[in-house]
Amino acid sequence: MRRERTVTQARPEITPEQLDQIRELIYKETGILVDGKKNYIMKARIEKRMLESKARSFREYQRKLLLSEKNGELQNLVEELTVNETYFFRDFPQLQGFAEKALPLLLSEKREQGDHTLKIWSAACSTGEEPYTLSIIVQEMIADYDDWTMTILATDVDRTVLRAARKGEYGTRAMKDTPLAYREKYFSSNGKTWQVLPHTAEPVRFEQMNLIDRRAMRRQSHYDFIFCRNVLIYFSDQSRKKVVNSFYDSLNPGGFLFLGSSESVGRITAAFELTRIDDYLFYRKPKQMR
Ligand SMILES: C[S@@+](CC[C@H](N)C(=O)[O-])C[C@H]1O[C@@H](n2cnc3c(N)ncnc32)[C@H](O)[C@@H]1O
Repeated sequence: MRRERTVTQARPEITPEQLDQIRELIYKETGILVDGKKNYIMKARIEKRMLESKARSFREYQRKLLLSEKNGELQNLVEELTVNETYFFRDFPQLQGFAEKALPLLLSEKREQGDHTLKIWSAACSTGEEPYTLSIIVQEMIADYDDWTMTILATDVDRTVLRAARKGEYGTRAMKDTPLAYREKYFSSNGKTWQVLPHTAEPVRFEQMNLIDRRAMRRQSHYDFIFCRNVLIYFSDQSRKKVVNSFYDSLNPGGFLFLGSSESVGRITAAFELTRIDDYLFYRKPKQMR
């Protein structure tokens, strides 16, 4: 009997239902709601992971995901699906408010108490431009910087971006908003790329951390400033709320929270105080418990 001929498909077909299953898994793992309008991107990235993990069918791939240990295939897929866009001095007006208003206020309060420590957390730091920017700003703004102990914890769920962050080498795109004076003082350059200098990197420590890992989040405490910019836009309302509540617990009384410019703390929780300093508005944890 003659066998009917078939052609081999280059890409395994993934159905909308299967995409929804993956969407649910990513949501549970990271809090990220992958936009249904971006199905075609999601599909291409899953297909890429299927090929790289040598899964022959969607079912086989799904099994790999479900059976994967920490840092296994599920982590690889998360890294494939996260948006890592970032650059130095991103959202300059907000950073200006931090540098010229919030930071001097907090420093003067600390000086009065004889406290010379400063603890900052860049949560969802991607390839490191944000924490290094904060290091540059603080070094510029504190005249007696050498008398202070500053630590900047920089965390992200994605191991690939953290590897790049630790390397600290950047191209022109990342540097586009970096003032010339800071390029000369905080980087060395070979004409093509810029390398953060040791004193720029010194206060920054990178660590892998998932914002929806409650135990890891609970371990974070006594922060003066938390920056979590341009990531909660990808989260559901429920996971956003959980993360912001954790930040509240991790801040010192009087500590500040900075979200991205399109993300409003006020819409998520009423626990923070809205503080105006000149033309700038800040979200601050109350100094006294209400
Ligand atoms: C668009 S980047 C923002 C980088 C930087 N904060 C900024 O504003 O330029 C978002 C980062 O959030 C990270 N991310 C997404 N979900 C996360 C989670 N559940 N826990 C930790 N990081 C997460 C991604 O890996 C990505 O590097």
